Amino acid sequence: MKHYLSINDVDNLSEWVEEARALKAAPKKFKALGEGKTICLLFFNNSLRTRLSTQKAAMNLGMDVMVMNFGSEGWALEYGDGTIMNQGTSEHIKEAAQVVSQFCDVVAIRAFAKLEDRAKDEAEEVLNGFTKHTSIPIVNMESSTAHPLQALADAITLAENNSKSKPKVVLSWAPHPKALPHAVANSFVKMMQLQDADFVITNPEGYDLDPEITKGCTIEHDQEKALGNADFVYVKNWSSYSDYGKVLNQDSNWMMTIQKLGKAKFMHCLPVRRNVVVEDAILDGNQSLVIEQANNRTYTAQIVLKKILENLK
Ligand code: CP
Repeated sequence: MKHYLSINDVDNLSEWVEEARALKAAPKKFKALGEGKTICLLFFNNSLRTRLSTQKAAMNLGMDVMVMNFGSEGWALEYGDGTIMNQGTSEHIKEAAQVVSQFCDVVAIRAFAKLEDRAKDEAEEVLNGFTKHTSIPIVNMESSTAHPLQALADAITLAENNSKSKPKVVLSWAPHPKALPHAVANSFVKMMQLQDADFVITNPEGYDLDPEITKGCTIEHDQEKALGNADFVYVKNWSSYSDYGKVLNQDSNWMMTIQKLGKAKFMHCLPVRRNVVVEDAILDGNQSLVIEQANNRTYTAQIVLKKILENLK
């Protein structure tokens, strides 16, 4: 595998999940694979889990790791072709991407949606800019439209906790005071499309995700109906896609409660706002899988880096 940009780069999800679980059982088994190789992690946005788990994965594989908070410490980048750079941007992506590739063998990038201009976000100018202007492998640590490392960790967590041949999995929107991107939900939907599951998305009117991504999925605007007999409930806020980036609804009735969850397992990518998105009783109880999801981020990054390193050899 050259790059890991989206869940579409997973050629066989169940095999990857099994390989990641084997790495979890023996994390240092391939420590020689990354010897002499360097990964550079570039963060245009904040992180806890992605930053630490990707570093840990790289270290487990014997790689050297460099981390840069590009968003606050790097030069403001220009992406346009032929732009007269006499305004706020100081460095063009053409030079920046090539310069980064002088220092490392793999680059991982986090650059969220700005939620101001849908076309611009969907163009993925940071991720695609680096992919276009450097020849080294790129890992997506959450871009404007996708968070494929999270979705793969979610697939591992589902596999570890599922005992049914066709579980019912519900992706439920939850309220949030800020406008959040669609990346986590998009990648979760795409990952679920690769699973044998009864999958339902529930969100208020006005919050349907990109119809290109949810094509073929069941969308139910009645949350109570959607949650019936669920085995897993994945909760996430996202801003409106049709009225792009807007917060149209903060109805606290959409918050996940222990009563609504029933016997299902609870999933969330974290960070999560307690008693806005989900009540304490769930996070503090034994139906929550959120810490295991976070733990599985290491083995997700590790399987991705292992496949990239094997391709570099
Ligand atoms: N879930 C996730 O990506 O967490 P961070 O934003 O803390 O990296």
